[in-house]
Parts: sequence; C-alpha cells; structure tokens
Amino acid sequence: MKTYEVDETIRAGVLASLPMISEIQDEDLRNKVLDAWAISLKENGFTKLEEVDGPLDVTMYCSQPKHMMAVAKMALHAAECFNEVLEEPLNIDRDLLLACALCHDLGNPYENNVQKRAKWNEDPSAEGSPCLRHTFYGAHIALTVGLPEAVAHACACHSKEGRFVRRSDITSVLYYVDDAFWGVIKNAHGITT
Ligand SMILES: [Fe+2]
Ligand SMILES: [Fe+2]
Repeated sequence: MKTYEVDETIRAGVLASLPMISEIQDEDLRNKVLDAWAISLKENGFTKLEEVDGPLDVTMYCSQPKHMMAVAKMALHAAECFNEVLEEPLNIDRDLLLACALCHDLGNPYENNVQKRAKWNEDPSAEGSPCLRHTFYGAHIALTVGLPEAVAHACACHSKEGRFVRRSDITSVLYYVDDAFWGVIKNAHGITT
C-alpha cells in the first residue's frame, strides 16, 4: 500500500499561502487540511501553492491560493446571507465549510503536474488527458488523510461531476461560488471560453 509522508516545510508554506486555515477551530480538522495540501503538493512536484498553474487561462488573473481564499470568503458570506433570510437554514457548519472551501481544489497539483501533463498530452490514449480531473484526485487525498467524507464530497462534486449526485448544502454553495468567481473574471476580460 502506498504511504504518504508530510513534508513539514511544505506544510508550513501551506499555512502561509492559506492563512484562513487557522480559522478552523477543530484542531484535528485543521491539521488534516494542512496534511492534505502538503501531500498533494509534494506528490506532484510542487513546494508551494503559488507554483501550481490553474486549469484555465484565467488563472493568470488570480493565483491558486488567492482563488481558494476568495472562494472560502465568498462561501462564508453566501451561507450567512442564505441563513439570514431562509425559513429553514442550510445545513452548514462553519468549520466544515472552511475545510471544504479551502480544500475544494486540493487535486489541482495533480491535474497540473508538469511531468504528468506532458505524458498525458503526448499519448492521451494510454491514461486519458488528464488521467484524473482534480476533483477525483482531491477526493482521494482527502480520504487518505482521514478528512471527513463531506470534505471529499466537496472535492469530488464542487465542479461539473457533481451533477450526477445531490450535492451537500456546503458543496452546492461552493459550486455556485466557484463558478461565479471564474465567470465574473472571464466576463471582465472578455474571455468567452
Ligand atoms: Fe475546481
Ligand atoms: Fe476552484
């Protein structure tokens, strides 16, 4: 069975890139979010989040960690707004929302792994291209470090793949916020893809 080691230097860098992780009150949850990112980065040849390219041209307008932090802030505010006006509040725990939001693109180091990308592009017939989207790989790492299945679900279903299931309330908020984030940037720059 493959085992993963947490590199403490990379782990410290994750907290520097995503300081909102420190807002997660539950110590075990907070530590597992840090472990998950440290493993995902190291396994894919990165030392920090800022080195990871995004999936779209629009990432030239916003780095990965800034995107993660923005989605976390937008999701927190959106959840607050919903629960101010709804007769029945959404099923949202603040710590879990933060963990889900700050991990939703946990698989991006894999999808943007430089060596793997070159291999996939050279011969897509062998493993596909990408072999796994970041959604699948993120869920794999989340489960590997023992994060709650709700976080793995957010990784797996925050994007298009989520249409095959009923998303959790947190993942539903993340889906729309994440889509809005890139959609607004694309519109502002006249990007039509
Ligand atoms: Fe994503
Ligand atoms: Fe995202």
